[in-house]
Amino acid sequence: MELFSKGAEANLYKTDGAIVKERVEKEYRIPELDETLRRQRTRREARYLKLAKDAGLDVPKVKSFDDKAYMLEIERIDGVLLKDVFEDEPEEEAGRHALDIGRFLKKLHAISLVHNDLTTSNMILSDGKVFMIDFGLAQHTRRTEDRAMDLVVFKKSLRATHPKRFEFIWGRVLEGYGADAETKSRVEKIEGRVRYAGA
Ligand SMILES: Nc1ncnc2c1ncn2[C@@H]1O[C@H](COP(=O)(O)OP(=O)(O)OP(=O)(O)O)[C@@H](O)[C@H]1O
Ligand SMILES: [Mg+2]
Repeated sequence: MELFSKGAEANLYKTDGAIVKERVEKEYRIPELDETLRRQRTRREARYLKLAKDAGLDVPKVKSFDDKAYMLEIERIDGVLLKDVFEDEPEEEAGRHALDIGRFLKKLHAISLVHNDLTTSNMILSDGKVFMIDFGLAQHTRRTEDRAMDLVVFKKSLRATHPKRFEFIWGRVLEGYGADAETKSRVEKIEGRVRYAGA
């Protein structure tokens, strides 16, 4: 299999129309913990990608998985990482993509899932649609705080990665999300706390 990408956690290989994501050993972790984490993240990714797909969200389809081998075979989404185009594409396009992400997150949260690693490196633009990938840290939760935290993580990463368009993009994400006053104030409250803690 052709090595396609080396991520922080995994090697990705290209197969026919699919990619195989294999979570590799991390030497710095205690072996038992390492195995537990790799198994858990492989399972989570398979389970939550499927739940999201069944809810009609734009995510790759899971073809197969083997948690003993820490492997997941998923549909390959051909396109570009949103990270590489978000600041340079026409403003109208960027606005539409940001709006779509907001709507995506609203639906994801409505089925009680949070992604926990929202960055534009985990979003692929394909045929004008934004696909979300990398669900290994996702969680099933009904807590308002967890949903707000998902947004805070994304906001922080947007500010760092796309400083030129941050305000515009974030405004559209909130619009697509349909964020009410309570959600916005929760996000700001967590941000204040994180800043105060120096994180
Ligand atoms: N289904 C897919 N279709 C096409 N490309 C993909 C797909 N899944 C992952 N990739 C590519 O492989 C990269 C790494 O995948 P992923 O984010 O799932 O793994 P990771 O180990 O968490 O990597 P990172 O630490 O870089 O986020 C992505 O940024 C993307 O470029
Ligand atoms: Mg990733």
